[in-house]
Amino acid sequence: MLEKIEQLIAEINGLKVESAEQLEALRLKYLSKKGAINDLMADFRNVPNDQKREIGQKLNELKNLAQDKINSLKEAFEAKKAVDEKPDLTRTAYPVELGTRHPLNIVKNEIIEIFSRLGFVLADGPEVEDDWHVFSAMNFAEDHPARDMQDTFFVEAHPDIILRTHTSSVQSRVMEVSEPPIRIICPGRVYRNEAISYRAHCFFHQVEALYVDKNVSFTDLKQVLLYFAQQMFGPDTKIRLRPSYFPFTEPSAEMDISCNICGGKGCPFCKGTGWVEILGCGMVHPNVLELNGINSKEYTGFALGMGIERITNLKYQVKDLRMFSENDIRFLKEFEAAN
Ligand code: DAH
Repeated sequence: MLEKIEQLIAEINGLKVESAEQLEALRLKYLSKKGAINDLMADFRNVPNDQKREIGQKLNELKNLAQDKINSLKEAFEAKKAVDEKPDLTRTAYPVELGTRHPLNIVKNEIIEIFSRLGFVLADGPEVEDDWHVFSAMNFAEDHPARDMQDTFFVEAHPDIILRTHTSSVQSRVMEVSEPPIRIICPGRVYRNEAISYRAHCFFHQVEALYVDKNVSFTDLKQVLLYFAQQMFGPDTKIRLRPSYFPFTEPSAEMDISCNICGGKGCPFCKGTGWVEILGCGMVHPNVLELNGINSKEYTGFALGMGIERITNLKYQVKDLRMFSENDIRFLKEFEAAN
């Protein structure tokens, strides 16, 4: 018996494997219930008492050796397998979840897309602006209330440097360096000193459009507005214009669309009127053209501005404006389908 044990020890010491199947076969051969070592254990009963001690120790040695050998072969085999399979070393350690586009971006892109079909091109300007581009160049009187501390954020120590309160400043930025025809669309963030609530925030987003050329008329404006409304909210959408006032346009109007939630019948969203306001617009005031270096005798233009949050609310019925800036993953996930 001793001889047989020694023989197995030598055999096991020399073992090598090349495949998972081979390894499993060896495990079965030596270590399973019906394996060689268990057979010896069974024979151990018949060993004479005076040899039990010596043979018992050898048998234990064999068993431990077989166990260790199979384990180390397994480890070596798996390490080799990992190298052979060339793991992707650029993969991140944790599963990466794909994000979604922000609803304001989805809507912004849609607005840009609609206007670009009419030949409008993207333009932008700084969010930290000077008083000239935000107010003076846009024909705001020196004592206009919008210049007030209540509405405008000032950059400390620079009474002339402010956070822009509207994207209309980009109109001035573009006109001062270009010759008509000008046909631009400018999306961007704007800031106002408002108490934050479910319906107001100290920053929000607007899109501004400006068209300056020879013979641009109010009819052109109306046609663009109708096209935009029907592309954005569906072909049955109606528009109406109400007279309004903005320092930079004359005449000025506010545009309502037939409420896309109730189809114009009247609901809580449109306060029963069937109409919802979505933007401000008008013919560019001759003063604005002149202040920005464009001859108002030769050229006319129209401009319009809208809040992206407002359009997004209409499309997706987001009740609390604060959701847009809270980065709550559950809120953002609701827009997966719109991506
Ligand atoms: N700037 C205006 C606002 O912030 C929106 C606006 C109204 C823009 C009329 C325009 C316009 O271009 O023509 O409320």
